[in-house]
Amino acid sequence: MPDTPSSAAGTGVLADLNALRAIGAYRSGVHKPTFSAPHLESLQWLLAKLPEAGLTGAIDGIGNVLTTSTKTGPKLLAGSHLESQNYAGWLDGPLGVIYALEAARVLNNDPDVTGAVEVAAWCDEEGHFGHFLGSRSYVGGVTEADIDAASDRSSGRAMREALSAAGLAGIPRQAAERGRHVGYLEAHIEQGRTLESEGLKIGIVTSIVGIFQYRITFTGEQNHAGTTRMTDRRDAGLALAKFCVAIDERFPHICGPRTVWTTGRITLDPGAPSIIPGTADMLFQVRDADVAVVARLEAELQTMAEEVNAQARCRVTVECIRRGTPAMMESKFQQAIEAASSNFAGGKSLRMPSGAGHDAQVLATIMPAGMLFVPSIGGISHHWTENTADEDIVTGAQVFVDACRRLLTQ
Ligand code: GLV
Ligand code: MN
Ligand code: MN
Repeated sequence: MPDTPSSAAGTGVLADLNALRAIGAYRSGVHKPTFSAPHLESLQWLLAKLPEAGLTGAIDGIGNVLTTSTKTGPKLLAGSHLESQNYAGWLDGPLGVIYALEAARVLNNDPDVTGAVEVAAWCDEEGHFGHFLGSRSYVGGVTEADIDAASDRSSGRAMREALSAAGLAGIPRQAAERGRHVGYLEAHIEQGRTLESEGLKIGIVTSIVGIFQYRITFTGEQNHAGTTRMTDRRDAGLALAKFCVAIDERFPHICGPRTVWTTGRITLDPGAPSIIPGTADMLFQVRDADVAVVARLEAELQTMAEEVNAQARCRVTVECIRRGTPAMMESKFQQAIEAASSNFAGGKSLRMPSGAGHDAQVLATIMPAGMLFVPSIGGISHHWTENTADEDIVTGAQVFVDACRRLLTQ
């Protein structure tokens, strides 16, 4: 194992990340929804970089960039995603793809390294059309009917139409070749404040949270906002607001130490100033690494709905629309990251769970997987101000390349 920093590792990543940031730039971040022109241009940018890393690759029928090396020996799969949330940050996704590209550039061109890093850019990690569609397709978890049913959550555009406009209609989706890879390694910004607040440089991910999503629908009676007496109203919007407040009062008594919950979208129908809403719905998300905790919270939502229904003013239904399994990261991968951190980050690392979802949790269903975090300034992410210090980006890249080297040579 090398005990001194390799001068080659890390040097190209800032230029590459800034090149991707210039595609679809929005203020200091980017706006690259899945299958938008800047997203597709970013995929083409990556394809053009592959020869530097001794890789060939293509975009498959769901928008994944998948690559192969002809080098003999073990293969490590590494990557992340190139689309962004709307009007969001420049590093959420691209950091992991560029670290993977850097590892491939350094290790695949090194005759002393047996084996190679193969780079992947998974499509739609950010869930514009579904959730983890690209990586789930790769592991065999997406059917043609799923694609037929998928549409862009912002514009409503059908996924089939988006694939066709991107020139991907009729192109086969690529499935994992079982046994080809020794595992999957992904780097990401932390998207929280733990590393920054403790003066640390590297997060060694131990587990990735499960994400559970619910649609909670309230039905009342649409009526005139001026003539309907307060005692006669069946206001679906008010019932929804009370439900949100009740969740915040009741969940803290039964949740786990790291459970989080978010009402990400509320819709009132018809949503006009002079009309009492007849229906209302909310998209409600719970995250925890322990499915038993989520099951307890889900049962509480159902109890709360029964209590509202018993009052007979408005009806409530709670429908689970996404069950995301938590994932454990492989101990061998954690050890490789820890050893690389001792070499390149002065050992300033911490084992920690991920509260964000990542493609690594999907890959972990078919191969050993690991994840490395670098600090996020102020813990901000899913916002265009998201950032990481340049020196932390370079340190992270050096740790990542060394961890890949260790995983290939173990
Ligand atoms: C991924 O972006 C997540 O929402 O956790
Ligand atoms: Mn991400
Ligand atoms: Mn994200």
